Amino acid sequence: MQKPQRLIPAAALDSGFPAVCVVPAAGSGVRLGAGVPKPSRKIGGLPIAVRTLRMLLRSWKFEEVFMPVEPTRIAATQRLLSRHGLSGVRVIAGGRTRSESVRNAFGQVRPGKKVVLIHDVARPFLDSRHVREVLRMARKKRAALLAQRSTATVKQTSGAAPVVLRTLDRRCIYLAQTPQAFSYRLLQAGYAKNDWRPERFTDEAGMAEAAGFKVWLVEGPSSNIKITTPADLCLAKALLKAGANALK
Ligand code: C5P
Repeated sequence: MQKPQRLIPAAALDSGFPAVCVVPAAGSGVRLGAGVPKPSRKIGGLPIAVRTLRMLLRSWKFEEVFMPVEPTRIAATQRLLSRHGLSGVRVIAGGRTRSESVRNAFGQVRPGKKVVLIHDVARPFLDSRHVREVLRMARKKRAALLAQRSTATVKQTSGAAPVVLRTLDRRCIYLAQTPQAFSYRLLQAGYAKNDWRPERFTDEAGMAEAAGFKVWLVEGPSSNIKITTPADLCLAKALLKAGANALK
């Protein structure tokens, strides 16, 4: 049985360096229902996109922030953001998958020695401390992501039949979240090694791993939920009430 790894304490890491931010927001939001695109969907009176962007902008002085959205929603999103004082965010055309949306944004980042932080629009409840911890870890180690220790016992199957192949040691299992952050050059090399076709990866950390890079974990909070289904909306309201990312 493998020994669970100890994570590096964030306090041991460096701070204050150039970074850009990518906030993928081009999902269809079908699973959420109600016909309103997810970024415009309100929780506690504020659109999800506005909550997520405000949280990110108070966490770090990013050089630029890119938000890929469905191409037909660019103008409407720009209007929504400027109504909330966020007109500096660069709204661009997303792709067919999350990873294509991020790649489109990465293509617009000016090359240089900087960290690229990627955070799903659908995770508005993160706190600034964790954003900074992931940035600092990426600065030091070149690739990092927020992940939550599994509280579930995880069964692996072959994928072909619902039969257990093995039970994983849950002390070694982490559930990937965002933000994920990388040095510009590592991410560029990751895309190049995958022929700039990241669509088979469900996150950038997976792409970096496949390209042979070591990716470091920062332990994330269970409140960093991804709003995907109507049940998540109920949870989101409860989190707001409890004061998570309590933006007015
Ligand atoms: O698909 P999933 O719910 O995991 O999406 C995670 C994030 O990726 C969401 O913030 C969503 O808006 C975004 N996304 C995207 N482009 C797509 C699909 C999803 O930017 N084509």
